[in-house]
Amino acid sequence: MRVLGIETSCDETGVAIYDSDAGLLAHALHSQVELHAAYGGVVPELASRDHVRKVLPLIRQLLDEADINADSLDGIAYTAGPGLVGALLVGAAVGRSLAWSWGIPAVGVHHMEGHLLAPMLEAHPPAFPFVAMLVSGGHTQLVEVTGIGQYRLLGDSLDDAAGEAFDKTAKLLGLPYPGGPELARLAEEGDPKRYRFPRPMTDRPGLDFSFSGLKTFALNTLTDAKQQEGDPLPRQTQADIARAFEDAVVDTLKIKCRRAIRETGFKTLVMAGGVSANRRLRQQISEMMTKEGGEAFYPRPEFCTDNGAMIAFAGWQRLKAGLSEPLGIKVTPRWSMEALAFGDEDGHPSSSAG
Ligand code: KG4
Ligand code: ZN
Repeated sequence: MRVLGIETSCDETGVAIYDSDAGLLAHALHSQVELHAAYGGVVPELASRDHVRKVLPLIRQLLDEADINADSLDGIAYTAGPGLVGALLVGAAVGRSLAWSWGIPAVGVHHMEGHLLAPMLEAHPPAFPFVAMLVSGGHTQLVEVTGIGQYRLLGDSLDDAAGEAFDKTAKLLGLPYPGGPELARLAEEGDPKRYRFPRPMTDRPGLDFSFSGLKTFALNTLTDAKQQEGDPLPRQTQADIARAFEDAVVDTLKIKCRRAIRETGFKTLVMAGGVSANRRLRQQISEMMTKEGGEAFYPRPEFCTDNGAMIAFAGWQRLKAGLSEPLGIKVTPRWSMEALAFGDEDGHPSSSAG
């Protein structure tokens, strides 16, 4: 079975073709980073309009470059949520309409399920059951995964997601959007011993997260440093603060992952979503899992952030189980992953077997 995947939930237009025999055949991505950079963050209306401009030419380019005829496609998967409603509607409308015109089924995919399954695109994929740590710009979730569609939420963010905390702190440091990778780059030059940030919610039981306090801690540290060293701060001080922030997020995620691994008794951890591209986080999580006698799995860095490949793959899982959408175009901007069990009437509202 050959599936075209379309991702348009936020600020990347991603398309890919996954083949159940041959694996990933092709993928292409158009990032809107330059478009939003002047505003310091994603402007939803601009995002929707850019998806409209880019998605069809990108699909055409994908098919041309991979020398694939649309006739050979067996289904289309598009991100149906969660995400920005206008942006989601572009991918859903294009995906659903192309599937209708090509006479093939279409399926709406949960964006976070896409992230969660992305490590399965790699040569050494994880086996069920596992704990998944989803760390993106909108989510910080620990999920118990016992099979495709079998997701139980173990922990969630009470306020800012990890990626959001990276982005907001990067902004305080005067770094350009998107802040996460920029902050990580600056942290490379930082002295880990100069500042110490708290590890929020690690001193009490539970698997929930709260990162908004770290951003405030960063602001206070910056204000104090500026009083002593002047504004703008020397680059070294900025790097030291970036490093202390990154270490605090990494350490907090590591502590909660270890707790989830011990509580479930599982030996496999999957980490995915934009923040899982962070080099120090991957290194720390891998070391922790080795110590626990288990193994950690990640997508390749380019599939940690939003992409079409993960949507094609997650869509294939649903299409092969016989799920597809009726002709209506429906998106779900807020959507719990626990509602995804196959055959569950509370799953994606427009999903139906057949
Ligand atoms: O998964 P993703 O591409 O989009 C969402 O679904 O949200 O995640 C984007 C987030 C942003 O907050 C970005 O700053 C963060 O992932 N991110 C990083 C790194 N690369 C991306 N955060 C820390 N270190 C990185 N290397
Ligand atoms: Zn994402």
